[in-house]
Amino acid sequence: MLLHTIRQTRLVLIVFAALSFAVTLYYSARIYCSFGAGLWTTNAINTTPLTVRTPRECVDPYKIPGYMYTTEDREETRWIPFYPSFFDLPALPETAYPHPEDMGDILLNNRTVDDVILNTAPVPWFRMLRSYYAYLKKVADAKEGHQPEPELSEQDEFVRVHMSWTKNRRILLMGDSIDRNQLQYMCEDMGHPFVEDGGPYVMEQTTAYCHIPLINITFVQWHIAGMYTFRPEWWWMPMKLVSFEDRFKEIFKPVSMHRVIGPSGSGPDLILMQSGTWDQVAFLSGAHFHQMQALPEKNRTKFVIGRPRQPLTMDQLRFVSKRFIKFVEFMKDVFGDNVPMMYRSSSVRKEGKDEDAGILSIDRMLRSLVTTRFNMEIFDWSRLAYGATSEYRDFIHFNKGRMSWLFSDMLLHYLFRASGGVEIEGVVKIWPQEKTMHDLNANWEVCHDYIVDTTNR
Ligand SMILES: *[C@@H]1O[C@H](CO)[C@@H](O)[C@H](O)[C@H]1NC(C)=O
Ligand SMILES: *[C@@H]1O[C@H](CO)[C@@H](O)[C@H](O)[C@H]1NC(C)=O
Ligand SMILES: *[C@@H]1O[C@H](CO)[C@@H](O)[C@H](O)[C@H]1NC(C)=O
Repeated sequence: MLLHTIRQTRLVLIVFAALSFAVTLYYSARIYCSFGAGLWTTNAINTTPLTVRTPRECVDPYKIPGYMYTTEDREETRWIPFYPSFFDLPALPETAYPHPEDMGDILLNNRTVDDVILNTAPVPWFRMLRSYYAYLKKVADAKEGHQPEPELSEQDEFVRVHMSWTKNRRILLMGDSIDRNQLQYMCEDMGHPFVEDGGPYVMEQTTAYCHIPLINITFVQWHIAGMYTFRPEWWWMPMKLVSFEDRFKEIFKPVSMHRVIGPSGSGPDLILMQSGTWDQVAFLSGAHFHQMQALPEKNRTKFVIGRPRQPLTMDQLRFVSKRFIKFVEFMKDVFGDNVPMMYRSSSVRKEGKDEDAGILSIDRMLRSLVTTRFNMEIFDWSRLAYGATSEYRDFIHFNKGRMSWLFSDMLLHYLFRASGGVEIEGVVKIWPQEKTMHDLNANWEVCHDYIVDTTNR
């Protein structure tokens, strides 16, 4: 009798699971279309995350050579990796040889990307985050206005169910003005101000953040002034403190530490770190002190950034490498071992490729250092940004445009992975699970060994 009941219950459960799965699939597919990307299957029912993955399940789409898909609308910008499936597509009639006489010229100049290809691009997470925010806001506004609960659209329902992994998150970028700008654009795109906050050090280039209360997510930047150990007399920029040790003690810790502690209680949910431009600037400023002093203040950075046509010397690179090792170890001490840390690779200036020799030499050295010494992955922004010169705001910074949109997508991609999510060729296979979404290191490690590698730029 008991057995009979159990069997019946089981049957009911199975039918129920199958039904919900079908419904989920149906909705996922429809909703995802509204995000402008095509079909999408989900595995929301599967609550047992895979722990063993095959190399195919562990691919970093932003590391694969891809196609920069852009339209008039910057929000449609996507990075489309060239997966084997691209090469398996059927041949176009134009490929025929000999050339059919009635075919005319071979132009193939339709810029629309077929959904079959577009759908393999990484999930447009930033779009999803914005929809999630819009849904939360709709509910919050109704509550505040003592209105009845608003009706939820299918899209609202979808993000409500699937995007809660973005809640209570803290993301820290330690780097230069490139990172600061990208975060600023991201915050503005979320409709939130980006606040420069130096505490008693009232100046730029200290810390900056934005907090989005409805999601309880905070993006923070700590401005690193390069790997110099002290503030030389020729240091002309507004920074009062130069070494990361001093900056941490005097600025980051007292002013900003409370903003970067995520649910783990010990550190952020994701860290990007970087150094490069400021090291080069420091070495050159020292060497060209008098010429630089003679220039108006606002011309000085450009003067030193614009000078080098040579890599750093080996001694300079040895210096930076030892200091960067200490920087990573220092931050590991501060935040513990649970936080995924990535090296954000250096983009270069808009023009004058040989003037980039200094930055290139540091970036190549650091790529090797972080992967071999620290087994860290690379947030390979520089390779995506390569050649996107029309996206620059000035000679070195990007504007709020397509590339900054992509940066936001990319940042969230890694947060999704740190939360236990899996996407393969643009399809979400596993959503972060409530129980494990804060086991950052464990989630990260699942695929890490397949992805970490010393890529050159
Ligand atoms: C361009 O390609 C898209 C997608 O394959 C297709 O829908 C559209 O009709 C094409 N446009 C022209 C003018 O052929
Ligand atoms: C917001 O997130 C932080 C960091 O994860 C957490 O400590 C805090 O409790 C959260 N606040 C609320 C109201 O959930
Ligand atoms: C300073 O820069 C401006 C434009 O950025 C330029 O016009 C000017 O000539 C520069 N001054 C010197 C002394 O180089």
